[in-house]
Amino acid sequence: MAICALAYLGIRSDQLEDWTTFASGLLGMQKIDGAGKSRSFRMDDQAQRLVVSDEPGETLAFMGFEVSDHADLEAYAARLDAVGVKVHNNDKALADRRLVGDLIWFEDPMGNRVELIHAPMIASDPFVPGRPIQGFRTGPLGMGHAVLHVQDIDVMMPFYRDHLDFGVSDYGLTPYGLYFFHLNGRHHSFAMVGSGQRGFHHFMVEYQNLDDVGQGYDIAQSRDEVAYTLGRHTNDWMTSFYAHSPSGFFVENGWGGRVIDPATWEPHETFDGPSFWGHERLYLPQEEGGLRDRMRSMAMDAAKRGLRAPPVVECPWLYGELARQPG
Ligand SMILES: [Fe+2]
Repeated sequence: MAICALAYLGIRSDQLEDWTTFASGLLGMQKIDGAGKSRSFRMDDQAQRLVVSDEPGETLAFMGFEVSDHADLEAYAARLDAVGVKVHNNDKALADRRLVGDLIWFEDPMGNRVELIHAPMIASDPFVPGRPIQGFRTGPLGMGHAVLHVQDIDVMMPFYRDHLDFGVSDYGLTPYGLYFFHLNGRHHSFAMVGSGQRGFHHFMVEYQNLDDVGQGYDIAQSRDEVAYTLGRHTNDWMTSFYAHSPSGFFVENGWGGRVIDPATWEPHETFDGPSFWGHERLYLPQEEGGLRDRMRSMAMDAAKRGLRAPPVVECPWLYGELARQPG
């Protein structure tokens, strides 16, 4: 039994026009006609990937994770029930709204709504991006990743790792806790920031073409929406920038993420800071010794040590061979 991908995300927001401009005009998603006042967007052949709910709150409304077999829904419901988690099932109307065959839902220990779904609907018409991008990297890697603020990692870690079988990819503890989890070959489909806060930190969508990230960067700069400058992460090798969403949390626009083999991956602690270079946190104040300053120092230190990602090659066999070579 397995949860195999991040299938979709729901956002609680009443900034529908701003979200439409953002999701379609910057991210390149396709707006579709949703039921009621909510707005829905596609990223590929799946009928729905992002839902903006037309409710106040400006935060995450729900995360939808796909299971590979229908029987997994019952199995997870039983396991969660056994540890005292209230599980909701048999909600046909909700499954219809989510455009999935079936689902169960429950809340994590911090009250974030998690939906496990089976058989997402595939659209009959082709994906038409909101701006001329080549497309998103989804398929078996899922929608991208979602990152939550957490107050108590000692409560949240067992929930996702032990009850939902999320695989720990790696974690860093400096300058604050960052915990990354995989569900498939994507280095992380889910992560938690040990900021001591509640709420949604960001979600990430990955593009097939670096130029689509670059062109998005130009658009975001022209609208003064850049939160983190272009940079490259040390753990998933994603080249990305972060934009301010209309709801205040960030959306990471990425390219070139690493694909891991979950069967052989070993969880480990990382010490290199989040980025090889870039990712300057423009949204934070410039203070000596402040968080922005410390994050920049970690990237400068990575540069001093000549840290970099391995070259990107398209052939998995060649990639494996290169990785086995010493040095
Ligand atoms: Fe991210």
